[in-house]
Amino acid sequence: MIKQAIIPLAGLGTRLLPLTSVFAKELLPINGKPSLEYIIKECIEAGITEIIFIISKRKMMIKKYFYNDKFYKELIKKKKDQRIIQEYKKILKYRKIIKFVYQNKPKGTGDAVLKTKKYIKDKYFLMLLPDDLIIKKNCSKSMIKTHKKYKASVMASMSVNKKTVSRWGIYKLNKRLNKNDYLINNVIEKPNIKDAPSNKAVIGRYILPKKIFSKLKNLKPSKGGEIHITDAIQSLIDNNEKFIAHNFSGKYLDCGSMNGYINSSMEIAKL
Ligand code: G1P
Repeated sequence: MIKQAIIPLAGLGTRLLPLTSVFAKELLPINGKPSLEYIIKECIEAGITEIIFIISKRKMMIKKYFYNDKFYKELIKKKKDQRIIQEYKKILKYRKIIKFVYQNKPKGTGDAVLKTKKYIKDKYFLMLLPDDLIIKKNCSKSMIKTHKKYKASVMASMSVNKKTVSRWGIYKLNKRLNKNDYLINNVIEKPNIKDAPSNKAVIGRYILPKKIFSKLKNLKPSKGGEIHITDAIQSLIDNNEKFIAHNFSGKYLDCGSMNGYINSSMEIAKL
């Protein structure tokens, strides 16, 4: 059973400047709700019972969002506004399942994952990258189904324009298991066009084995001076660990760039 999810939230959000100079990108509203709430909802609907947020001192605003009781209580005392009461109840419900850990230096996604080591209980856990929203179909839920069937690690996959491969982790696929799932031979972080083994990209949903911590511990920074989760995954694949690329059927929205963020609001408003 996959019961725990982790969400790296310590990123600086430079692609969304100037908005992120004072504001956490994951709290920026999309159609009236922080983008993070869509991710939390996806987790809960997929059966997750504990979510670990990896934040930093710069991103304390995220913790405050869930612990601003005094503000709500005073407002509710003054006027019994049903909408405020409902929002406060929702925040309390989310808070019950959220834990916070800290990554004060932005050393990459691999380093963020390593910070959760002490808290992971089961053999596998889910990771969601908050820049990647997937709407219309619960991607985590369908990945958990694949995981149950094949008892393997799973990552979300999407075909991208060949010209953009250097923006993504890129797969080299092996055997097709069914309509949507492929075994992975290799995964390379942000390759040049000429080195890219395909145009199948990693999208920010991962079911990872607890074993990955032993790889992350020994990993040196690579591309861009960061510790990449992709490198730890490749190292596990080299040790014959089974990883599956799952072609998800929802719609992908990139909330991490300005154009993507603006487009996400329009797409979600249409739902
Ligand atoms: C991260 C991963 C990359 C993946 C991407 C999906 O990159 O390192 O492999 O393709 O998320 O959004 P980042 O967006 O942090 O540069």
